[in-house]
Amino acid sequence: MTDIRFDGKVAIVTGAGGGLGRCHALELARRGAKVVVNDLGAAMDGSGGSSEAANDVVKEIEALGGEAFANGSSVSDTAGVQKMIDDTMAKWGRIDIIIANAGILRDKSFSKMTLQDIELVMDVHLMGSFKPIKAAWDIMKEQNYGRIVVTTSSTGLYGNFGQANYGAAKLGLVGMMNTLKIEGAKNNIKINAVCPVAATRMTEGLMPPEVLAQLKPEYVTPGVMNLVKEDAPTGMVLSAGAGAFSMAEIVETNGAFVGQGDALTAEAVAAKWDQITDKSVQTHFEMGSAHGQNIFRLLSEAAKS
Ligand code: NAI
Repeated sequence: MTDIRFDGKVAIVTGAGGGLGRCHALELARRGAKVVVNDLGAAMDGSGGSSEAANDVVKEIEALGGEAFANGSSVSDTAGVQKMIDDTMAKWGRIDIIIANAGILRDKSFSKMTLQDIELVMDVHLMGSFKPIKAAWDIMKEQNYGRIVVTTSSTGLYGNFGQANYGAAKLGLVGMMNTLKIEGAKNNIKINAVCPVAATRMTEGLMPPEVLAQLKPEYVTPGVMNLVKEDAPTGMVLSAGAGAFSMAEIVETNGAFVGQGDALTAEAVAAKWDQITDKSVQTHFEMGSAHGQNIFRLLSEAAKS
């Protein structure tokens, strides 16, 4: 098995002052990358801020013999993010890896959730991933090299009570990934998503201590290293927690052609509902156009029968 190394590579990890981001930043540095440690140092609801957390991780990296600098910008601050990209280019001249990891929570049942709770979470998770990735995109294209990871969540993929804002932002990131994997392909830019489960301040109190003890954030990071390595996959959602890993995909059932014109009624759809929702055959489409082709497959199969 060849070692996974990042010598000569420059990585930006957002929200790297603690939790999962800190583990990703330390591991990248251990494996030779120069690392920008971004963290606003905010409380879990996004309030406040201090550069201490990012500075501490930089010190940890330096103690390992690695190179790093701290950036205290909020990922949702457009000018601050641009400055982080400019500072990185001025110091190291390239950007090979971005791990968009910064996050906050504003959990409330939907009745109690304010529009501000929704906008803030969208701003940090969704826009806060778009902004650094967008600012580095043309640099990666020019380099003909880029490895990007966004951080999704089981809430985005499957749902969770009290997290409509968070879930929307987290699945939005998968939507962004699905298109950037296509647009980045010819310039060797690969983009993947990690769906972690880890004991951090975000999950404190949500699970019993003996379960949390299994969920060290360090146990997610080895999976993430595989998403940013030289021969990384692209367009993949990797679930990771407690040292276990799996792949998540959006799939469609085989489906059914119901009819057209007068034959296509709500009742005719209802009559084929079992076939439409039959899960015995399920397919993941590599891109949107394959979804359209599938519709025409059903049409031509129906024409033959
Ligand atoms: P954490 O709260 O320990 O780490 C998040 C970091 O992001 C903090 O250091 C915080 O200061 C920073 N941050 C917050 N807002 C920021 C902003 N505007 N700009 C820059 N930095 C900011 O939480 P954890 O668990 O390490 O979360 C990391 C990512 O993983 C988040 O995106 C989270 O949604 C995601 N995630 C975590 C799960 C878990 O089980 N811990 C489950 C699913 C997803």
